[in-house]
Amino acid sequence: MITVAIIGSGNVASHLTNAFLKASDIRLVQVYARNIETIKHLEGKTSISNHLENLCAVDVTIIAVSDDAIQEVSANIKQGLVVHTSGSVAMSALQNSGRKGVFYALQSFTKKQEIDFSTIPFCLEAESVKDLQLLESITNSIGKSVYHINSKQRKKLHLAAVFVNNFTNYMYSIGHSICEENEVPFKILLPLIKETAKKVTLISPKEAQTGPAKRNDQETIAAHLENLNSQQQKIYTLLTKSIQEN
Ligand SMILES: NC(=O)c1ccc[n+]([C@@H]2O[C@H](COP(=O)([O-])OP(=O)(O)OC[C@H]3O[C@@H](n4cnc5c(N)ncnc54)[C@H](OP(=O)(O)O)[C@@H]3O)[C@@H](O)[C@H]2O)c1
Repeated sequence: MITVAIIGSGNVASHLTNAFLKASDIRLVQVYARNIETIKHLEGKTSISNHLENLCAVDVTIIAVSDDAIQEVSANIKQGLVVHTSGSVAMSALQNSGRKGVFYALQSFTKKQEIDFSTIPFCLEAESVKDLQLLESITNSIGKSVYHINSKQRKKLHLAAVFVNNFTNYMYSIGHSICEENEVPFKILLPLIKETAKKVTLISPKEAQTGPAKRNDQETIAAHLENLNSQQQKIYTLLTKSIQEN
């Protein structure tokens, strides 16, 4: 049985907490949050605390707090393997004096949105093979997809994720506004969104590219630009140019 503590009560921490409470080979010994009210509902299921000085001794402490707080929080942890869950923070940012690692689940987590851990890639990093194996055991207790990714690779992976997730979602927002302004339901675009996402599981994004930019349909491009505000025109022009130069 591997003993685990979780620091944090946000999106990632709450999903990990729920998953570990259900995992048969993990004992979630403690959850820490600076605001105890956010973890009061866990009373009776695990030990809860808002005092970093009083953390229990466990095999692995998972710090799932805001990126900027990782250094400060980690400096308070005295024992065991200490890992953070960030895609963009280096393992060396951890300030505990002992063993360090990273336990990065590559998915978008929102507290109230259910998540299926069995589909999530876990990007693991540690200073020793033994600790990497320990993190693999934890991953296997809630998921199944393990990758060994170092801090340099993870930084770049996070950058790629910003493009395929955050920026794509912003494109949905623009499409949503255009639909709303013209009284067309956004849901009419959902099959297209799903098909585009499905296609890149089968062929490369470059091969999957279609549209006026790819075809160089100048008249269509000019007509589209006329119907956009100045910020949307800048985005449209830049993306069109990038697609054509790619
Ligand atoms: N959300 C995602 O999709 C996602 C995916 C993969 C990885 N991550 C990474 O996972 C980590 C947590 O992200 P999240 O989305 O779960 O964040 P979040 O929902 O904003 O929650 C942040 C947590 O950090 C706590 N916190 C912030 N500053 C603190 C401090 N100085 N001392 C103690 N606790 C502090 C917050 O406490 P309060 O509630 O008191 O403010 C809260 O519990 C980040 O490193 C993030 O990069 C996030």
